[in-house]
Amino acid sequence: MTARAPAIEVRDLRHSYGDLAVLKGVDLEVPRGRIVALLGSNGAGKTTLVRILSTLLRADAGVATVDGHDVAASPAEVRAAISLTGQLSAVDDILTGRENLVLVARLRRVPGPGGVADALLARFGLAEAGARRVGTYSGGMRRRLDIAMSLVGEPSVVFLDEPTTGLDPEARREAWAAVRALADGGTTVLLTTQTLDEAERLADRIAILHEGRIIVDGTLDELRALIPAPTVEYVERQPTLEEVFLAVVGGKDRS
Ligand SMILES: Nc1ncnc2c1ncn2[C@@H]1O[C@H](COP(=O)(O)OP(=O)(O)OP(=O)(O)O)[C@@H](O)[C@H]1O
Ligand SMILES: [Mg+2]
Repeated sequence: MTARAPAIEVRDLRHSYGDLAVLKGVDLEVPRGRIVALLGSNGAGKTTLVRILSTLLRADAGVATVDGHDVAASPAEVRAAISLTGQLSAVDDILTGRENLVLVARLRRVPGPGGVADALLARFGLAEAGARRVGTYSGGMRRRLDIAMSLVGEPSVVFLDEPTTGLDPEARREAWAAVRALADGGTTVLLTTQTLDEAERLADRIAILHEGRIIVDGTLDELRALIPAPTVEYVERQPTLEEVFLAVVGGKDRS
C-alpha cells in the first residue's frame, strides 16, 4: 500500500440480508492515524459495515479497501493489517490478563509474546492486574484489556464495535484514553457508537450512517456548521449528571 492511500476507502458499498437492504451505497474515506466515529441508530448497519471491512462478511456490491488492500480480492492482506474488537468482549475469563495477551500474540505469531504482553499491560494500566484471572476484572478493566488485545501485532487499522457499551462514565473515560493512545501512536481507529458524547469527545471525524448511506461525514466543527448558528442566550449552565457523578466519585485509578 502506498503511504498516501487512505486507511479505509469505501465506494458505493451495498449489502442486503435477504430482502432487507441494509447498506444502500455507502461512501466513506478514513485518513490514516485518525479516530473516526461511525454513528447510527440500532440496526442502521454499523456492525454490518465493520464486518465487511474486516473481511467477515462479503458485500453484495461496491468497493472497500483497508490499508490499500481490497477486502474482497485480498482478504488475507486486510486481515494482516487490522484487528477487530467486537460488540461482545473476546477475553477469556479463566485466563489471567497476561495469559490472554500471550495467547493472542502466539496466535498472531508475534515474536516475544511475553514481552509484548507486559508492554501492553503497562500501557493500559493493567500491570498490577495482569496476573489475576479476567473473571475478577471490572468492566472498564476488561474493555482496556480488550483494546490492548486488539493491538497485539501492531495493526495499522483497528475496528472497535461499541467499545464502551455497558461501561460506567469513569470506565468509559479509561477506555477513551486507551483509544486516544492508539491514535497518538499512528493507528487508525474506526469505532461505532450510539453515544453522541463519545463521538464528540473522542473522534477526529464523525460519519453518520442512516437509512443505508453515510449522510454526514466530517469534523465536529464541520458538522456543527451544518445547522444554523444558534441565537445567543445567556443562561446559567447547570452541570450535567455525568459531571456531577464524576465529581463525587473522583477520578481514581481502579485497577
Ligand atoms: N445475519 C443477519 N441476518 C439477517 N439480518 C441481519 C443479520 N445481521 C444483521 N441483520 C439486520 O441488519 C440490520 C443492521 O444490523 P447491524 O447489526 O449491522 O446494525 P447496527 O447498526 O450494528 O445495530 P446496533 O446499534 O444494534 O449494534 C438490522 O436490521 C439487523 O436486524
Ligand atoms: Mg452493531
